[in-house]
Formats: sequence, C-alpha cells, structure tokens
Amino acid sequence: MVSVKEHYDSLLSDVYTWLMGGFDEAKKSNVAFFNSRNIKPLSSGVAVDLGAGSGFQSIPLAELGFAVTAIDLSQKLLNELKSNTDAHSVTVIKDDILNFSDHIATHCELIVCMTDTITHLKSKDDALKIFQESFNSLEDGGKLILTFRDLSEELTDTDRFIPVRSDENIIFTCFLEYEPETVKIHDIVYIKDHETWKLNKSCYRKIRLSAGWVEKHLLNIGFTLQESTNSNGFQTIIVMK
Ligand SMILES: C[S@@+](CC[C@H](N)C(=O)[O-])C[C@H]1O[C@@H](n2cnc3c(N)ncnc32)[C@H](O)[C@@H]1O
Repeated sequence: MVSVKEHYDSLLSDVYTWLMGGFDEAKKSNVAFFNSRNIKPLSSGVAVDLGAGSGFQSIPLAELGFAVTAIDLSQKLLNELKSNTDAHSVTVIKDDILNFSDHIATHCELIVCMTDTITHLKSKDDALKIFQESFNSLEDGGKLILTFRDLSEELTDTDRFIPVRSDENIIFTCFLEYEPETVKIHDIVYIKDHETWKLNKSCYRKIRLSAGWVEKHLLNIGFTLQESTNSNGFQTIIVMK
C-alpha cells in the first residue's frame, strides 16, 4: 500500500491522460459539462481547481475567462497541464489540496474538485475540511462543483475486477477491495515493451462517500444544493454559497 502521491508518481501519472481517453477527448467532455451547466465568469472570475491533474477542467475554465489556480500533488501531471496551456491564465501550484486557501488572495467565484479527487483524501474528516474551507473561500453566489464515484455500494466477487482501458500497447485493470470506510484500489497495468508485456502494479486507498452523506454535510455548512445527479455511478454535486 502506498500514498496517493506515491501511487501517481510510480504508476498512474504516466498513463492517466491516456486512461481518460486522451487530452482532447477529456477536455471536450469537460467543455460540454461546463457549457451544459452555464458555468462562466460572472463576478470576480477567480476559480480554483482542486486535484487539477493534467488540466481537463483548468484549461476549459481558463478558456471561458476564469483566472484559474490549479493545485495538485503530481509534478508529472502539472507539467502536462503547463505544456497544454499556452497563454491561458492558469497558475499552477504543487501542494496538498487541504492547503488550497493558502494560495488564493481573494474570495473565489468557483471551486471545482472533479473526477474523484475528493475520494483520494485520507478520511471523511479531510473531505469535510475541503467543504468548509470552500464555503469560507467562496464569494456569495459562488459555486463548488464535485464529481466522484459513489463507492458506498459494494461490488462482489469478480465484479470487483474493472477493465478500465486497453489498446495494443497498454492493458489497465483495476481490482477493488472493500473496507468499511475505504476501498483499496489495486491498479494493474501491462505495458508492451518491444513485444514483451511488462507488469506495473500499485495499490492506494479511496474513501467511500455516498451522495447522501456529501449533500447532508454541504447543506449543514450553509450551501444551497443546485444539482445532485448520478450517471453510471458517477455523482455530480453542485452547490452555491
Ligand atoms: C482522478 S485525478 C483527477 C484529475 C482531474 N481533476 C481530472 O478530472 O482529470 C485525481 C487528482 O488529484 C490529485 N490529488 C489527489 N489527492 C490530492 C491531494 N491531497 N492534494 C493534491 N492533489 C491531490 C492527484 O494527483 C490527481 O491528479
């Protein structure tokens, strides 16, 4: 078992963008996501991307006119983000998202924490810290967008083997081992190297968040719920301060 940072450094960051269908495809689906929710700068235009990865959200938001601060622990993914940005206004910070408010000078209009980043935290208490700190950092009318896989329901037996993506050079399979509050995520990657398949494997934990638990705590903090939808097990929650 390794930390999230070690897992990305040793295995996931090298194949992450490929795993998500490639940069152009992933960017396109996020552009569509933000357009369908009418997300655009209306006041300060300050946005923060928590767990920005290679920039699938930061770059569309910058193109919409937001001044984006992108925060992530993976230097490799942040380097990819930088190489994809050209002149777009994205400030890139390598740090834990739990420290995000240290990196913003003013209240922000938008905070996004998307594609499961929130479940990478060590505990539900850490998720609550992000919710509260987001509330404190947003201006009135500002929004927090979370998207994550709801791991509260257990898969069993061989259903726990997930064939994530494969092509002629890479086969990426995931195995899920459920614990009461967390899931051990075993990533198993075969990469072809000169006609030989090489195995890379690594395991890290995600926390099991249900939509109901997340909604309840966001509302307790004082947010108003704008959207809570589930598509193929992936939850989108949008709240407003
Ligand atoms: C599943 S990826 C999502 C990346 C991006 N939001 C996307 O949609 O592709 C999760 C990202 O969160 C980052 N991450 C996980 N825990 C973090 C933490 N505590 N602080 C900073 N970054 C973190 C990982 O390095 C990774 O880039």
